[in-house]
Amino acid sequence: MMSEDATPLGGNSSHRRIREMLDAAAAQGAPAAAPSDAAPLKGAARAGETTEPYHGEREMRQIYTDDESERRASRVGPGGVYPQTRGRHSDEDKAQAAAGLPTGPRKPPEAEDDLPLAQEAKRAVKVLNPGGEVLMPRPTHCRVMAVANQKGGVGKTTSAVNLAVSLALHGNRVMVIDLDPQGNASTGLGVEHHTEVPSIYDSLIESVPLNEVATTVDGIPNLWCVPATIDLAGSEVELVSMVARESRLRMAIEGYEQELDYVLIDCPPSLGLLTVNALVAAQEVLIPIQCEYYALEGLGQLLRNIELVKAHLNPQLRVSTILLTMYDGRTKLADQVEQEVRGHFGDTVLKSVVPRSVRVSEAPGYGQSVMTYDPGSRGATSYFEAAEEIAVRGAAMGAR
Ligand SMILES: Nc1ncnc2c1ncn2[C@@H]1O[C@H](COP(=O)(O)OP(=O)(O)OP(=O)(O)O)[C@@H](O)[C@H]1O
Ligand SMILES: [Mg+2]
Repeated sequence: MMSEDATPLGGNSSHRRIREMLDAAAAQGAPAAAPSDAAPLKGAARAGETTEPYHGEREMRQIYTDDESERRASRVGPGGVYPQTRGRHSDEDKAQAAAGLPTGPRKPPEAEDDLPLAQEAKRAVKVLNPGGEVLMPRPTHCRVMAVANQKGGVGKTTSAVNLAVSLALHGNRVMVIDLDPQGNASTGLGVEHHTEVPSIYDSLIESVPLNEVATTVDGIPNLWCVPATIDLAGSEVELVSMVARESRLRMAIEGYEQELDYVLIDCPPSLGLLTVNALVAAQEVLIPIQCEYYALEGLGQLLRNIELVKAHLNPQLRVSTILLTMYDGRTKLADQVEQEVRGHFGDTVLKSVVPRSVRVSEAPGYGQSVMTYDPGSRGATSYFEAAEEIAVRGAAMGAR
């Protein structure tokens, strides 16, 4: 029979020593240290044995020191020199941890991008379509779409601008009517909209033909814009006493003689007479919904108004398209909103979802759509795909 101390894993005396060490550590208020001498660890040197690493390990260390340490110092990767990987416990890491941000080594810049440059360039070519090769099917009739949602800042203007540019770059003749006194769609397309510029106000109030107020958009063939100036702010009041006050935009569009495939009307964030004019002029409503908590609030009111216009003024009106915008993949909330909207509206919701993207929000500052500002970005690609879906759905109704 073996003595206590002779038990293979150190036996009772070892346990006692570990306990003693733990007690001592607890008395000093320090975390318990590993019992390095409590029990012989597998592979540890026994008395009389060398503590030198075996030959292979020494060799490995040598190779590592000569070669890898240098490589690590400069971190040369496929795309060039990466910044040196930081230690896990650097001051920067501690600051990051204190701010609740991830710590530790960062990926090189190239690896942080969703897709490599080559793929991004490919996407840019697809979006810009320089050779005119990718064509989105043209509808048999001009599709007039009101981009509406009385909730502010949900992406109406951004969607109207980027979808219009996308459709125009792929073989469709498109007009954007800026029906918001803020004039954001005009800004986004780089079209002047100061008070002297002929605008949609002139068409609505003075019955000026649309072709006299429409202007081409720089760099985008087949795209026209009817700008909005601040004059439009007073038009809601002026319209009230006018004959056919709800149908004035419809009459303006019907009087436009050049052939168009799409008219996208960028509505203001209200359900006033301007939006009613858009709903009377359109056959389709495109509702952008922001993937945020309050996204669905107020939607009922918009749908009721659409039903009212349909019942009394425009029987062919229908909500044909819902586009989810500003989707933030890092949040569960965005996913929940998407599920909820898809569950409620089914196939009306486009499969393409527009992500929240800095590039999308930067573009208007340069008087550009994201399609031309950063055509390889995910924002541009998602708007391209959304436009393609819209065109394909239109083609299902009959293409020309
Ligand atoms: N996908 C996106 N990612 C990041 N920012 C976005 C995105 N879409 C829109 N934005 C930004 O959100 C803001 C609101 O967008 P936008 O102006 O298109 O909304 P809107 O519904 O037209 O607003 P309003 O009701 O005032 O007319 C803008 O600053 C825009 O640049
Ligand atoms: Mg807007």
